[in-house]
Amino acid sequence: MVYDNIVLIGFMGSGKTSVGKSLARKLYKNFVDVDTVIEEEQNASISDIFENKGEEYFRILEQKCINELTKNKGQIIATGGGLPIYSTIPEKSLIINIDADFDVILNRLPERERAKRPLLQDESRAKALFDERIDTYKELAHFSVDANQSIPTFIHVIFDYILDQRVL
Ligand code: S3P
Repeated sequence: MVYDNIVLIGFMGSGKTSVGKSLARKLYKNFVDVDTVIEEEQNASISDIFENKGEEYFRILEQKCINELTKNKGQIIATGGGLPIYSTIPEKSLIINIDADFDVILNRLPERERAKRPLLQDESRAKALFDERIDTYKELAHFSVDANQSIPTFIHVIFDYILDQRVL
């Protein structure tokens, strides 16, 4: 199987965006972040979209966005934590799961980053969501990386895996 793009999945705050930017630099590829594209297209923050249009509307935008983005090839694409749960990731994507424990995620996210995520506001509900989703991430991914260490520590594991797959 030859893949067109690399798609990073995982729970909110697991490090998908930082990992994606760094991988893209190392591989000389374009980096795109689904949430950022949606925010730019809607001219509104994710929080505002959730508040004014609702989560369901946001989920429709996510599916449209990943469909559009994957018409191009050779990109590293970071998704929002709910995208693989509510949307179908187009075939020919190499899916990598950034697999961090819930407490690691909470420690990794500064307050200003937490504030941007409507579904992280209530910690016990966020933990329930994490427990609900974690198996799906693993099932969907071609490769899950243990992301409990610092990003520079595990990024070379992903890098080696990608080179091994000769994907892009
Ligand atoms: C969400 C994750 C967020 C963002 C939105 C919903 C989720 O992205 O798409 O707040 O349902 O897990 P990050 O995973 O980049 O935080």
